Amino acid sequence: EKGAYPFFMLKEIDEQATVARHLIKHYFVDGIPHIDAAILKSIKQADRLYIIAAGTSYHAGLIGRRFFEKWAGIPTEVHIASEFAYDHPLISKNPFFIFISQSGETADSIQVLEFVKKAHYASLTLANVMNSTLTRDVDFALPLLAGPEIAVASTKAYTAQIITQIILAAALAGGHTDLQGQLSRLAVDMQAVIDGKDHIKALADDYLVNADRAFYIGRGADADVTLEAALKLKEISYTLVEGFAAGELKHGTISLIEHGTPVIGLISQSKTAGLTRSNLEETIARGAKTMTIATKNLASANDEIILPELTGEMEMFGPILEAIPIQLLAYYTSLGRKLDVDHPRNLAKSVTVQ
Ligand code: M6R
Repeated sequence: EKGAYPFFMLKEIDEQATVARHLIKHYFVDGIPHIDAAILKSIKQADRLYIIAAGTSYHAGLIGRRFFEKWAGIPTEVHIASEFAYDHPLISKNPFFIFISQSGETADSIQVLEFVKKAHYASLTLANVMNSTLTRDVDFALPLLAGPEIAVASTKAYTAQIITQIILAAALAGGHTDLQGQLSRLAVDMQAVIDGKDHIKALADDYLVNADRAFYIGRGADADVTLEAALKLKEISYTLVEGFAAGELKHGTISLIEHGTPVIGLISQSKTAGLTRSNLEETIARGAKTMTIATKNLASANDEIILPELTGEMEMFGPILEAIPIQLLAYYTSLGRKLDVDHPRNLAKSVTVQ
């Protein structure tokens, strides 16, 4: 039930810090990330991980890849299920497949699972709906614990998918001394961002409600989030939005910038923060109306959305905090256009056809 909320999407955005706490409670034992030993053993035998998913779940996989590579040291590829099903790359000698899905019923992913089973490859599904095709027909399954997600636009499942992958990567890496503490602090930060929603509503009204197109830019993990940011805004507000790596602007897309075009920059990665800022400046010079979403340690006083500080290793959690304003911007844009936020046209919650 959505109670006092006008739409399920807002309720589900609001629940994200709580979901993070549920995941911490479920997956940590005595401060150590705890994953079934059989799962860890099977993954450790692999020479490469193949993450398979669609839509928002695919975008979560892009973020997870960074943790599997950096923390667990396992080369990882992320694939769109509908592409992999008909055009897969050369597969390594000992692959391990990870399916990510909110519903567990996405036909494109099920198609790949059938291929994986035929080839006798090992597999794990991270799903929110646990009694589903993708959790039943697989070697292993882990729950995302986000609770029912009703709105077509996926929100809390996305952050739960990222956090679950982080915990799995840490467990593969042989524990992580302070991950529980870091994730607990992150949950507090997530709540702080959620509590700032009125400000984000004002920005959506100012920048997006009357715009017919918009762009999200970022680098590294922030570039991964631009894809999710664009999908969210497209799907429920029907704005033409593109999200892409900021460095690609000058290789084509900058020609689309006109007076007043909204360009939203995501900045949580210190290595590339300055470069993304320069790219934003380049669009300003062409008339863009820019909005910057930055973590506090990388922010400048004029940035429109300042997220809590994330320094050192915590920087890798940037996408989880960025998820909230990009979801809220989409929500309030859809709301500002008086659309049915929870039921965008032409879309189903679970895509059970290929
Ligand atoms: O249930 P799944 O996670 O497998 O669904 C995948 C996509 O259909 C889903 O994430 C879709 O992109 C969302 N509507 C996006 O908000």
